[in-house]
Amino acid sequence: MSTRGTESASKSIIERIERKWAMLMSAILLVLVGVVVFTGLHWAMMPPSRVETIQPETLNTSGEFVEENLGTATEPDGSVTVRIVAQQYSFTPQCILVPANVPVTFRATSADVIHGMLITGTNINSMIEPGYVSTFHTTFANPADHLMPCHEFCGTGHQGMWAHVKVIEKRTFDDLMRRSRGRRISCAR
Ligand code: CUA
Repeated sequence: MSTRGTESASKSIIERIERKWAMLMSAILLVLVGVVVFTGLHWAMMPPSRVETIQPETLNTSGEFVEENLGTATEPDGSVTVRIVAQQYSFTPQCILVPANVPVTFRATSADVIHGMLITGTNINSMIEPGYVSTFHTTFANPADHLMPCHEFCGTGHQGMWAHVKVIEKRTFDDLMRRSRGRRISCAR
């Protein structure tokens, strides 16, 4: 084969390989765009945990999130449930009291716009959306104080929106719970 022939043969091989790579890259790009569109549409209207809806307009007049039901409650199985309402620009209760080494279920919703809930030093990190209940479970291993800032921009007072989570010994918690006579407890003043 002449030098010219060899050159044009290798040129066509290179072209073929380049076309294959271009097609592969286009396919990868299409898949990525598809994933972005699907997750965007699918998750945009609900919190990541599960889909449980609630009327934000009537939170304070009826149902699970009325004011006297917010805070920490004990369940018959020994676990505790904490109910929280987020609103511009605070959480209710402002200081959450939970026992160490006891399964804790958080149930939170928003009275107005989208807020975020993050507890420092734990893997709790969720959105709180009006119209939905965000539920998540955890167990705090040791007594400690954690900060709970709102981490979704929710308006001009966003940076001042945060609460505390106080984890105390189970025995102390049980004492407080007994003295509360069935009322919800918190460490908010
Ligand atoms: Cu609530 Cu940011």
